[in-house]
Amino acid sequence: MKDFIDLRSDTVTKPTPAMRKAMAKAEVGDDVFGEDPTVNALQEKVAKILGKEASIFVPSGTMANQLAIKSHTQPGDEVIIEATSHPYNFEGGASAALSGIQFYCLKGVRGILDASQIEEAIRPDDHHFPVTKLICLENTHNRGGGTIYPIQNIAEISRFARSKGLLVHLDGARLWNASVASGIKPQEYARWADSVSVCLSKGLGAPIGSVIAGTKTFIDRVHRFRKMFGGGMRQAGIIAAAGIYALDQHIERLKEDHKNAKRLALGLSEIQGVSIDPEHVETNIIIFDIAEIGMTAAQVREEMKKNGVLIHPFGKTLIRLVTHLDVSKEDIEVALKAFRKILG
Ligand SMILES: Cc1ncc(COP(=O)(O)O)c(C=O)c1O
Repeated sequence: MKDFIDLRSDTVTKPTPAMRKAMAKAEVGDDVFGEDPTVNALQEKVAKILGKEASIFVPSGTMANQLAIKSHTQPGDEVIIEATSHPYNFEGGASAALSGIQFYCLKGVRGILDASQIEEAIRPDDHHFPVTKLICLENTHNRGGGTIYPIQNIAEISRFARSKGLLVHLDGARLWNASVASGIKPQEYARWADSVSVCLSKGLGAPIGSVIAGTKTFIDRVHRFRKMFGGGMRQAGIIAAAGIYALDQHIERLKEDHKNAKRLALGLSEIQGVSIDPEHVETNIIIFDIAEIGMTAAQVREEMKKNGVLIHPFGKTLIRLVTHLDVSKEDIEVALKAFRKILG
């Protein structure tokens, strides 16, 4: 019996016994010297899955995004990004602090941009303006509610970017969710981006780790900055083994998380005063508004906690829920019962 049903994030999962076993028997070496066979195996595996020449293991999704931005840009450059994106909102202002870039934010529809918006954002070749260098996309889009980036939008944005000499970075922290839900292979999403970051410690359930993929030259540049950012790890095979295990065992099961999220969304939509469109729940993230109920999200969090369910306020009256490896079908019914009691 668990103490709480934790719907705050898919980052809260604990390694399974089988994953821990894989970690315990991992062969290791000093990865700063490139000598950890398990890290090397993980990097080869991810590069292959994403159809890229090379990849590099890093401690977090934040470091992955920030290393990509650092490696693609010069201080003073401008990076086009969606206004509710993770790098712009939730990475502590790192791109300004560590890369000296500025963001040009565009408002998307649940996080999704289209190519016509990009065109407007590109700066003219005039010394008054910053140099537009990079476009960052996020698939699935976290703040957008786990939205899957339509492949046509990605392709059009990428084609347009290439025609203008711009680079594209894809924040694929939950690319696995997008792929399982859409049936589009990670490689097909990745082919439109110059760099792709993926996380192993979100839906896939590994304790730590993200990977950045791209050309060999790009990854070599990232390797230099990874050292500079303090992300060079030593016997990291212990955690890379969890990542390999997660990639082999935990991708297909994401479908269950998506089914659970849909069930949760449908149940919530039946509560009077809850504003949610279950059609918008495409993967494992659910965002809904309780403005009409007359409670704040923080108050609901406290009440839900008393009922054994942890949730994440995402604004004054917005709540985010995320399904994952450690949330069962039965847990969803328990959570819904608590929501009905508190909000109904
Ligand atoms: C879309 C997205 N990108 C990047 C990150 C950052 O990952 P980390 O928490 O591993 O730094 C997150 C974290 O939730 C995320 O949702």
